[in-house]
Amino acid sequence: MAAAKRTTTIIDREYRVGEVDPRIYGSFLEHLGRAVYGGIYEPGHPTADDEGFRRDTTELVRELGVPFIRYPGGNFVSGYNWEDGVGPADRRPRRLDLAWRTVEPNWVGVNEFARWAKRAGAEVNMSVNLGTRGPEEARNLVEYCNHPAGSAWSDLRIAHGQREPHRIRTWCLGNEMDGPWQISHKTAEEYGRVATEAAKVMKWVDPTIELVACGSSNSHMATFPDWEAVVLDHVYEHVEYLSLHSYYGNTDNDTGNFLAKSLDMDAFIRTVIATCDFLRAKKRSKKTLYLSFDEWNVWFHSHDADRRIEPWSVAPPLLEDVYTLEDALLVGCLLITLLRHADRVKIACIAQLVNVIAPIMTENGGPAWKQTIFYPFMHASAFGRGVVLDPVVRSPKYDSKEFTDVPFVEAVAVHDEKARTLSLFAVNRDPEAGMELDCDLRGFERVRILEHIVLDHADPKASNTKSAQNVKPRSAGGGKADGGRVTVTLPRLSWNVIRLEAV
Ligand code: AHR
Repeated sequence: MAAAKRTTTIIDREYRVGEVDPRIYGSFLEHLGRAVYGGIYEPGHPTADDEGFRRDTTELVRELGVPFIRYPGGNFVSGYNWEDGVGPADRRPRRLDLAWRTVEPNWVGVNEFARWAKRAGAEVNMSVNLGTRGPEEARNLVEYCNHPAGSAWSDLRIAHGQREPHRIRTWCLGNEMDGPWQISHKTAEEYGRVATEAAKVMKWVDPTIELVACGSSNSHMATFPDWEAVVLDHVYEHVEYLSLHSYYGNTDNDTGNFLAKSLDMDAFIRTVIATCDFLRAKKRSKKTLYLSFDEWNVWFHSHDADRRIEPWSVAPPLLEDVYTLEDALLVGCLLITLLRHADRVKIACIAQLVNVIAPIMTENGGPAWKQTIFYPFMHASAFGRGVVLDPVVRSPKYDSKEFTDVPFVEAVAVHDEKARTLSLFAVNRDPEAGMELDCDLRGFERVRILEHIVLDHADPKASNTKSAQNVKPRSAGGGKADGGRVTVTLPRLSWNVIRLEAV
């Protein structure tokens, strides 16, 4: 085994980036593949609850620590009639979903989903269809979900057995409207106009809601970042957030380059912040726009299998990526990147939640289990609450095919002032050797290591199955705390959570 290299870091309690918004630990569930049907909902399953939702999946969602779930799409939403999913189940239509070439039976709609989300401990982030539909259907949905009573749509909700309004706070104005693959794709001008008009009427129905406008589908779109600038020129004063999406793959099996892809996310976030601030200046506005990174993850394993799926069936196994340790490490780097922008990134949704490019997998009629990527997400959500401190990291670096000066160690710290704890999240990208991490914790008088959790495996391609949790966290020993200094070793290719009592 090669000798450990060394990284130093300074963590000062005054280097505050911002407070973590818990919605940064959001996720996403689309009517796609087995995400809803077979994933969270399966009335015949041995664990099904009184509404047909799988209790085993709900339990794992709670354990994952997801406080916020975007629904019902995704590409699906751009052809969705939300009215199809409410009212008596036996009268709901079966529709062709053109986004994924499947049949949507509408067994689950907004009421069932909102009730399930409550059981899973999450608030709903609802998307409206700005593809085939527009402001009228969007405002009706706000009225149906949020208006207490005494109007046509709210009374219809009550007639459907849902007396209490769902009080959905955060709404997405469409999905990836810059993408030519989107049902009823739009130019930035067209989208900017329709998003503005939808925003106005949705907020007139419920002035307490917050809105997310569509940014680019990824930073490699030819229209990025003009799309953002044009859209915001229309909608700036009507929305609170702008969305970003990004998926990363390792199709050429180049681990060093793959693990560096969080640098792409970082650059994307910085450019979107700059574009938002340009528009603020242009509009002489006092309002700061925040970012909603509402689709992010690793996605590439299932591409070939998806091409072989026959069209027009209900809930086929689409986008069922089986994740490796390597993927979990990139997910860790992406989480660290999001946290380092906690001052502007207030919402982020790992895409998706169950079966479809997801931390949780299920078998129809069988068990539910944790994929490798479950763990870094669960750790960040459980221990990453409080104020993000920006560590000054001096790490050895490497160059890869697409990136230069990639630090071997990616790290961020979150300080929970009330609990007097500090969580340091760190990934060692080095495939060869462990890394000694020497932390100078300035401003803290006393620190004590509570726990050092490690996720690693001898085989970077190891994954979990329904019967074997091959990749799971372990507790590491050997760290030292001395006054305001802490030294730990980050094993080669590892995700680490160093939990400290910090006074
Ligand atoms: O998450 C899968 C798909 O990826 C979503 O439907 C779409 O928004 C994105 O392109």
